[in-house]
Amino acid sequence: MKILVVGGGGREHAMAWKIKQSPRCSKLLCAPGNAGTAEVGVNVGLAAEDVPGLLKLAKDQKIDLTVIGPEAPLCEGIVDAFEAEGLRVFGPNQAGAQLEGDKAHAKAMMRAHAIPTAEARVFQDFKNAYDYVATRDEPIVVKAAGLAAGKGVIVCDDPPDALLALERIMKKHEFGSAGDTVVVEERLEGQEVSILAFVDGRNIYVMESSQDHKAIGAGDTGPNTGGMGAYCPAPIVTEELMALIERQVLVPIVDAMNRQGTPYKGILYAGLMLTPAGPKVLEFNCRFGDPETQPVLMRLDCDLVEVMEAVIDGKLDQVTLKWDPRPAVCVVMASGGYPGSYEKGKVITGLEEAGALPDVVVFHAGTKAQDGQVVTSGGRVLGVTALGSTIASAKQRAYEAVDKIQYEGAYCRRDIADKAMRGGA
Ligand code: AMP
Ligand code: GLY
Repeated sequence: MKILVVGGGGREHAMAWKIKQSPRCSKLLCAPGNAGTAEVGVNVGLAAEDVPGLLKLAKDQKIDLTVIGPEAPLCEGIVDAFEAEGLRVFGPNQAGAQLEGDKAHAKAMMRAHAIPTAEARVFQDFKNAYDYVATRDEPIVVKAAGLAAGKGVIVCDDPPDALLALERIMKKHEFGSAGDTVVVEERLEGQEVSILAFVDGRNIYVMESSQDHKAIGAGDTGPNTGGMGAYCPAPIVTEELMALIERQVLVPIVDAMNRQGTPYKGILYAGLMLTPAGPKVLEFNCRFGDPETQPVLMRLDCDLVEVMEAVIDGKLDQVTLKWDPRPAVCVVMASGGYPGSYEKGKVITGLEEAGALPDVVVFHAGTKAQDGQVVTSGGRVLGVTALGSTIASAKQRAYEAVDKIQYEGAYCRRDIADKAMRGGA
């Protein structure tokens, strides 16, 4: 089979790496990919959002299966466009992707189906939102309802903070039209976990749990990023808790999508806060998480292409997922200055030495090949991922690999997975 992976981050390198291991994959293309995907496949210079260009590529190259990584093309309806042309594609259609693309819609679905989530109000009018927030006295979170590249959520300490957040989103339009509607919700306290599942419209296959590290600084300090590291599994998610999450969150949402005539197919990712009152949904995503995918796929011990095909064909009940019992830890190496402004084009050395360590894979994110060298080209540069017999040894191995890699301004958190070793506390 000829397979096309759409996207160019660490998640897509991990997907491409895993897909390439499938005996079903004869040729692998990535659009636009990065220097890492170029090692397992052929990069094509098309943006992930270029739906007409990707459609033409899939037809011209007779691609048998297209796998979509990021949310933007999914929310634009790339799956509907491919299916209309009779092409096989992995990911939810536009109606399904709205669970991520429209937080007001996701909230309404959760409310209608009694799925535990933060109490929230939705506003389109600045004055109404302002008047509501001004009456609150507990910490709140203000969210642009649309897609904002993971930046449209402002966690506030008090109402004056929240009023400023409203002004940024609704008056200054910092996130463009994504902020035309805002969701104002109670701030939840607890630990966050990521639960990803394959869904074939009807059947749900939950993957091993994982945990991201959103803040830039050690001890979860400083501004939020796309994610600075992850581990899998998350020890805090016991079997019992996983069963509860499946029952209270995944089953009702998948059933609801089915009943409304828009069955959900692809990856469903529930971002959850484990509150003292039980797990509550912070958000749904319609795709693999980044960087969670890197440790999750390191542990997946079966043919990803077979699973993806079963999702498309509605036959997920006929496959079995197998997992490497060893935990995996992924440490993200970023450009100095990220998530603020940063320089690009720094030459990266030590990649081979790092990747030669046993049970280590260096997934690329913001990298590109230039004059025979690999240089930085984004904020999150690499996802250095290792398996170990324990989380502690996976962590140690990952940092051993990190320490072999150099580029000017390289930054990483040094405490990835410490939380897991404290028993998740
Ligand atoms: P979201 O994109 O909705 O997941 O929000 C991004 C991040 O903001 C989450 O991963 C949480 O860290 C934080 N967040 C979102 N909603 C809440 C909430 N209701 N309470 C506390 N933190 C939140
Ligand atoms: N790691 C967070 C996300 O993929 O949205």
